[in-house]
Amino acid sequence: ELSPIDKAKFAAAKRAADYVEDGMRLGLGTGSTAYWLVKCLGALVREEGLRIRGVPTSSRTADLAREEGIPVISLDEVKWLDLTIDGADEYDSNLNLIKGGGGALLQEKIVATASDQMIVIADISKKVETLGAFPLPVEVVPFGWETTRLLVEETLIGMDVLGRSTSIRMNGDAPFVTDEGNYILDLHLNRIGNARQLSLMMNQIPGVVENGLFIDICDIVVTGFGDGRVEVRD
Ligand code: A5P
Repeated sequence: ELSPIDKAKFAAAKRAADYVEDGMRLGLGTGSTAYWLVKCLGALVREEGLRIRGVPTSSRTADLAREEGIPVISLDEVKWLDLTIDGADEYDSNLNLIKGGGGALLQEKIVATASDQMIVIADISKKVETLGAFPLPVEVVPFGWETTRLLVEETLIGMDVLGRSTSIRMNGDAPFVTDEGNYILDLHLNRIGNARQLSLMMNQIPGVVENGLFIDICDIVVTGFGDGRVEVRD
């Protein structure tokens, strides 16, 4: 028996799987909600002969997809995708997102951008009025990251945010390392007044590779509830 939160995640994933059609090239997201999606797709592949090819957004998802019998391809083999389905850490009423809580934001953003459509699957706890309560992940190259952090903090002074502290994401005693070999700075902003501007400003800083704001990328959000209901917004 699933907990209410897993029931919500599963329900959202299952509904999103309805958008998947035979022959599609799919972007496969990362995280505990995307986990259920990959499980659902695996079942469709094995039991109903659904033919799909998936580009995973992390090494974790790649392993899971292979276990589930989903053919895994690289983005470079196809260059463009029909649909990406992924989780999110926050979404607002404009379907703008914060992602990267799991550290996979760079591949996730590349894959979602390379897709005709992006569907976010989430439980209702991810819905916010204004983005920013969840710390914004910013992926930085290891070279000179302390300097990059200072530049990020300096840039935040001019931004419409409520907090400006940053932390380096750790994995035990060492910085967490992403699939692309980079570090993650988490920005504790509490409230992001102008997410589009903040995203552009962050990506101007040398040493910043990408940030976790997804602006105008997501087309549909499927929200799951603890009782198994879902709500679709587009
Ligand atoms: C991974 O880097 C993130 O962007 C995830 O998509 C996000 O953290 C959602 O994960 P959950 O579905 O586990 O909340």
